[in-house]
Amino acid sequence: MATLTINGNKVEFEPGTTVLQLAIDTGLEIPHYCYHQSMSAPANCRICLAEIWQPNPRNDGKLESLGKLVPTCSTPAADGMIVYTDSPKAIANQKSVMELLLINHPVDCPVCDQAGECHLQDYSYQYGRGQSRFQEDKNKQPKKDLGPNVLLYSDRCIMCTRCVRFTREVTGTAELMVEGRGSQNQIDVFPGLALDNELSANVIDLCPVGALLDKDFLFQQRVWFLKKTPSIDGITASGDNIYVEHNEGTIYRVKPRRNDEINQWWITDELRYGWKFVHAEDRYVMPSVLGEDPFEINQAREAWSIGMTETNRIASAAVEGGETFAVLVSPMLSCEDAYHLARWALRIDPGAIFGVGPVPVHGESKTFPGGYTICNEKAPNARGVRRVLTALCGSAPLEFDEFTSAVEGSVGCVLTTGNYPSSWVSDRFAAAVGSTPLVMIDTLPNQLSERASVILPSSTWLEKSGTFENVSGRLQSFNRAITPIDFCKNESQIALELIALLDGVSPAIFDPAKTRSEMASVSGLASLAEAEQPVETAALAESDLELVDF
Ligand code: SF4
Ligand code: FES
Repeated sequence: MATLTINGNKVEFEPGTTVLQLAIDTGLEIPHYCYHQSMSAPANCRICLAEIWQPNPRNDGKLESLGKLVPTCSTPAADGMIVYTDSPKAIANQKSVMELLLINHPVDCPVCDQAGECHLQDYSYQYGRGQSRFQEDKNKQPKKDLGPNVLLYSDRCIMCTRCVRFTREVTGTAELMVEGRGSQNQIDVFPGLALDNELSANVIDLCPVGALLDKDFLFQQRVWFLKKTPSIDGITASGDNIYVEHNEGTIYRVKPRRNDEINQWWITDELRYGWKFVHAEDRYVMPSVLGEDPFEINQAREAWSIGMTETNRIASAAVEGGETFAVLVSPMLSCEDAYHLARWALRIDPGAIFGVGPVPVHGESKTFPGGYTICNEKAPNARGVRRVLTALCGSAPLEFDEFTSAVEGSVGCVLTTGNYPSSWVSDRFAAAVGSTPLVMIDTLPNQLSERASVILPSSTWLEKSGTFENVSGRLQSFNRAITPIDFCKNESQIALELIALLDGVSPAIFDPAKTRSEMASVSGLASLAEAEQPVETAALAESDLELVDF
């Protein structure tokens, strides 16, 4: 295999890669700004330059210097190459580049959102000269509103052009351009255009400095306070990999997590900002029982106890009266939730009717020139819910319309689950439920709330662990990012407590890993044992094993 040496480290490689990419792949650091693996390499920032020696076949393979410093981001790796980014010449270049980039930079780190995750800060510390020799006045450049999600602070821009290339090569929308010349260079939108495409906010992550800012996150939190939990898209069926960034039980932002086979480096703005319902003011946070006064904060334990007892009583009474129990399992729930809910419902009524909640589909899926696809199915786990219910019940669950028809017929009790980002109940379904005894396990109010006998507040996907099956059948597990809001519980835990109540025993604590191995022993669910796990799983999984008890 071909080898080359970077700063004394011998590295093997397959031909077709560049020196910088090889360094990145092998964990060797070469500073870079303009280069991003997903796009073309313009080699314009010049900080990655290296002194390179290479065997010359026309001179008996003797090592010869390439003469001047060359950009590692656009130089193909070649067998026998010797690369120095720590030679005196290379270091002098790094210091010069940093000095040039900082000449007109306002150095306003104390008020910059990027502080703490800024490549200009980091490289200034690692490769800069530590002080400025610039005595003249700095150029002042304007702040610009580029579109619905993105602000540009032009005087922080280092003109790497990553953002411009993103709109040309990845989205194909080409809203951004470089305007002006020399030190007056600025990024701007073309006249009459806004940076307003479905992936627009990815430029914020791409920007190596604090020039492109997220309007939604602006001045919300210093990044060093944020904890990062790896998770999965819980809004659509894409299965996009994400990081959820949070502090003290509050979500502050969602960012893409690289997965070359699913979402590459990107997520949609829909997913990036679609988690807001987690902290919605009108969220259910306390159980409620029809006919009972609203429970106070100090009555949470009692509220859950009454709500659970009443749920089992209503459902059992219907079955004892010779009627059927109808259970609607939302495609927003995890496979684990579907499994425990179905186990509980089958205990109440072995002949229970199961349906899958509505699966919203918005137009067609759309693939961008860069290969990223926006999924038109706006629920994360319809396939997983169908898979689990089919395995447990021996036949496929009813789709929402069929389930509505079944409820229109005659059932003795309806249990609905939701967890959608907004109200999901259709007029037809509301009419079908009519005055049938109804239990809701949900997050947000809907038009059935007033008539529900019991409402149990459930946790969103960011407050629990579980597994989703995406649009291409890929099973991916995710970890809980924050503890459940107020007095909410995840659907798995609710089902486990309902089962324990039937058995007159103490409830088990929901253990996602144990549930997956339990499920895997059910015919048709063996693949759940092989669900892909998020990277940093161990420490976070621990947090799921606390019993939510008030
Ligand atoms: S705004 Fe950011 S990403 Fe765009 S050119 Fe400037 S530094 Fe690069
Ligand atoms: S990363 Fe090589 S020139 Fe910018």
